[in-house]
Amino acid sequence: MKNEFSLNEPLQNKIRELCQSVDGPFYVYDTAHIVQNCRSFMDISYANKSIHFALMANAQTRFLRIIKDAGLGVFVNSVLHLELVLSLGFSGEDIVYAASAMDIATMRKAQACGCLVILDSMSQFRLWHSLFPESTAGIRCNIGSRVVPRNTLAGYFIGKESRLGLTMEEVAELSGHPAISGLHSYLGTDILDIEYFMECYTRITELAGMFPELKFLDFGGGFGLGGDLSKKLDLQAYGAQVTSLMDKLSAQVGRSIKLLLEPGRIIGGAAGYFVCRVTDIKEREGLRLIGVNASVAQFPRPLFYPDSAFHPVTLLQQNPASKDEQYMSSIYGCSTYSRDFLAREVLLPRAEMGDVVVLGYAGSYSAGAYTHFLGFPEADEYYL
Ligand SMILES: Cc1ncc(COP(=O)(O)O)c(C=O)c1O
Repeated sequence: MKNEFSLNEPLQNKIRELCQSVDGPFYVYDTAHIVQNCRSFMDISYANKSIHFALMANAQTRFLRIIKDAGLGVFVNSVLHLELVLSLGFSGEDIVYAASAMDIATMRKAQACGCLVILDSMSQFRLWHSLFPESTAGIRCNIGSRVVPRNTLAGYFIGKESRLGLTMEEVAELSGHPAISGLHSYLGTDILDIEYFMECYTRITELAGMFPELKFLDFGGGFGLGGDLSKKLDLQAYGAQVTSLMDKLSAQVGRSIKLLLEPGRIIGGAAGYFVCRVTDIKEREGLRLIGVNASVAQFPRPLFYPDSAFHPVTLLQQNPASKDEQYMSSIYGCSTYSRDFLAREVLLPRAEMGDVVVLGYAGSYSAGAYTHFLGFPEADEYYL
């Protein structure tokens, strides 16, 4: 995998400036990059749409204010996140609440604030309908029997291997139900293949005719960043194709069906960086072990996804070493936990004590995945 990534000058300056005053590790985000990513979704030409940022990717207040100002709504899957977005001024219609195994109290809370609720099973739908016979909701459809499901970064989200959503038989049982206002699906995460998106979306549109009161299709998230920086999702091509699909569907059913998307990772992933400092160095059989003033508990993706988390590393050196000489290096955290590694076996210039280590692709599923395990504080966050 490629390791180098470009850290533009303003970012480098910001990081160097922060390092003067901040002792501990921190995250830094490039606001313009986040806004640009939001815009690429808002620019999808299908007019009847709303884009809901998935809070599980990053639930920092400042981050959420940026996406709110950029015109996005939110997708949440827990009461805490729901309360957070309400406190930030998102209104019910800006919020999609999709979860599984919701209890009655959660359903009441979601219904009371007027957000759009997506239900995950037959019995969840029946419970909802018995509690709120006048309210409509969406259902999550497991369309895996209609396509060849793909194993994505975090496994299967459709098909027999997935616990989520109603089967096609269950969806058919609800056919004609007037309380169903939308169909939802989530195909997997870090997907780059537009053809796969479109194939699955097409299967969902084929279910639309079953529901006379259908108002929206929610195609979820899953938009990929790519694992080696060489591939990128072509969002313009994606936008054109999803627009054409929705235009066709709306023409078929004779009314405009709203398009909902729930991008998570792609909005901030490449716009965030984790920054820490070299505090120890060991040589071990040709491997340079670089100790830092941070723990994987503060930057947990390499812990959750040891085989697939991709975070290119760059060094900001006090005395820049020759880039021609590269050393196989691993970056380890300052606990005694044996798996406390922030990066393993990457080629780097010769790191020295006090150098600054910057890990890229750290804007999604990183700060938000912080764990108390090991006893380190949450890393501070700053914005350019
Ligand atoms: C239902 C749903 N929507 C959206 C997302 C965001 O996904 P991604 O970050 O892959 O875009 C998730 C993530 O798990 C999800 O479960």
